[in-house]
Amino acid sequence: MKPSLRPRPTVAFLVGFMGAGKTSVGRALGQLLNGKFEDLDDRIEAQEGRSIEQIFRESGEAEFRRAESAALSELLAERNSFLRVVALGGGAFAQAQNALLVQEAGAVTVFLDAPAEELYRRCAQEGRERPLCRDFEQFRKLLDERRPSYLKATLQVDTSGKAINVIAAEVACSLGLR
Ligand code: S3P
Repeated sequence: MKPSLRPRPTVAFLVGFMGAGKTSVGRALGQLLNGKFEDLDDRIEAQEGRSIEQIFRESGEAEFRRAESAALSELLAERNSFLRVVALGGGAFAQAQNALLVQEAGAVTVFLDAPAEELYRRCAQEGRERPLCRDFEQFRKLLDERRPSYLKATLQVDTSGKAINVIAAEVACSLGLR
């Protein structure tokens, strides 16, 4: 469907791998469109009362995935009249049950894409503790495994070499909102 023919979404999810810029682009996009931005990882941390890194270390990835799905279901159950822009953690949309929840809610999804080398470089530059960002080979392998899931997103935007504001403007255009 052409973006202009798509009904105005009430929630837009940014999906993609670690380092894709989901949080920074999401924040810029929220401002650009006078919408409300939320990062699903922040909701998980608030609900759990501990950081993502702590959840992985103390309870393991399976428990993190459980908390992630619960937070997503909760978010989707909230009804709003304004536009919400939501950044999902890198693994969220790669979980089939989460992708289904998002799809059933009729939400639009935008895959922020970039080559593995650039994603890894961005993660290293950010310096944020990411439990699943270890050596480059493991990083690339996980990206390759998840890529088919990301490609199921409604829209795909190439972010390589682009500034955050430029990407946000491109996403807004592809959503037919600018
Ligand atoms: C994860 C990515 C992280 C965070 C958690 C797991 C993943 O979010 O949800 O560490 O599985 O790729 P970012 O993509 O924002 O780094």
